Amino acid sequence: MTLSISLTVNGERRDVPLEDPRATLLDVLRDRVGLTGTKKGCDRGQCGACTVLVDGRRINACLALAVSHDGAEVTTIEGLAQGDDLHPVQAAFVECDGFQCGYCTPGQIMSAVGLIAEGGADDAERIREGMSGNICRCAAYPGITAAVQDAQR
Ligand code: FES
Repeated sequence: MTLSISLTVNGERRDVPLEDPRATLLDVLRDRVGLTGTKKGCDRGQCGACTVLVDGRRINACLALAVSHDGAEVTTIEGLAQGDDLHPVQAAFVECDGFQCGYCTPGQIMSAVGLIAEGGADDAERIREGMSGNICRCAAYPGITAAVQDAQR
């Protein structure tokens, strides 16, 4: 039996047939919706590379069953910029060199957007704590922290 779910992804409704009810939101976004900006790192909830916003809250898409989010509003990294205008958090990451290889960057940025929406963090220590679910193997943490601080100004 094929299930079908409906997601609103970056403001656009997507009806997705699911052959496998165990499909994760991450796999649906990448393989079915075709948005590959959301990255698969560990695929087990440990790295944060797959962070997206669901109904405005950040989650690890690799841990979320897609079927559990039928009807949800999902925002991915592709949904942040408005045409050529970067989202303020994206612009801050560029300004502050908040990345090195860039693989974790979509997740870092989505997590920062979520953190700021949750009320933000008023100092570097709280930013590091708020972003602690997002691992950067290049250890670009000083730039990431500075970018989140910058984006909140
Ligand atoms: Fe989801 Fe690592 S890929 S937390």
